Amino acid sequence: MAMNSSSHDVAERVERRWATLVIVIILVLIGMVVYTGLQWAMMPPSRVETVRPETLHVSGEFIESNLGSAVEPDGSVTVRIVAQQYSFTPQCLLIPANTPITFRATSSDVVHGFLITNTNINSMLEPGYIATFRTTFNQTGEHLMPCHEFCGVGHQGMWAHVKVIDRAAFMQMAESMPANSRRLSCVK
Ligand code: CUA
Repeated sequence: MAMNSSSHDVAERVERRWATLVIVIILVLIGMVVYTGLQWAMMPPSRVETVRPETLHVSGEFIESNLGSAVEPDGSVTVRIVAQQYSFTPQCLLIPANTPITFRATSSDVVHGFLITNTNINSMLEPGYIATFRTTFNQTGEHLMPCHEFCGVGHQGMWAHVKVIDRAAFMQMAESMPANSRRLSCVK
C-alpha cells in the first residue's frame, strides 16, 4: 500500500513537471509572436517599396512609355518591367554588357516570377511591391526570362527575351532615339 501511494506521488510530480514545461513553451511562442509583430510594425525593412498596382498604367514610373531600358546620367542603365497575366512588358529587354544595370519590376495583378536564365537573377514580382536588383552582364548574348510562379491558366506561356548587346552599340542606339522616347527595348 505504501509502495502504491509513493509511485502515485512520483507520477503526479512528473506530470506536473511536463505540464509546466508545456505551459512555458506556449508562453515563449506567444512571446515570440508578439515580439516579431511589434518589431515588424515599428521597424519595417528599409528596402520595401510599394506601388499601387491598379494605377500602374495611369501615372508614375511604370506607365507604358517609361518601361524598358533607360540610360541614367551616371552611365548606368535602369530597366523597368511590368508583369501581368500572361506577359511581361516589354516582351524583349535590351541590355548593354559591362554596364551596371538596375532592374525595377512589379506586377499589375497577381504574383509572377522573374528569372533570367544563366544568371543568378531570380525574384518574385508581387502586386503592390517594387522588386529592385542590381547586376552587370559581362557577356553579350541572349537569355530567356520565364515566369516561374504559377499565376493562372496561361502561366506556361508567360516569358520574355533578354538580349545583352555591346555597350557601345547600345549607347549609340540610346543617343539616336528621339528625345520624347528615351526607353529602349528589342520589341519588334
Ligand atoms: Cu506569370 Cu506565371
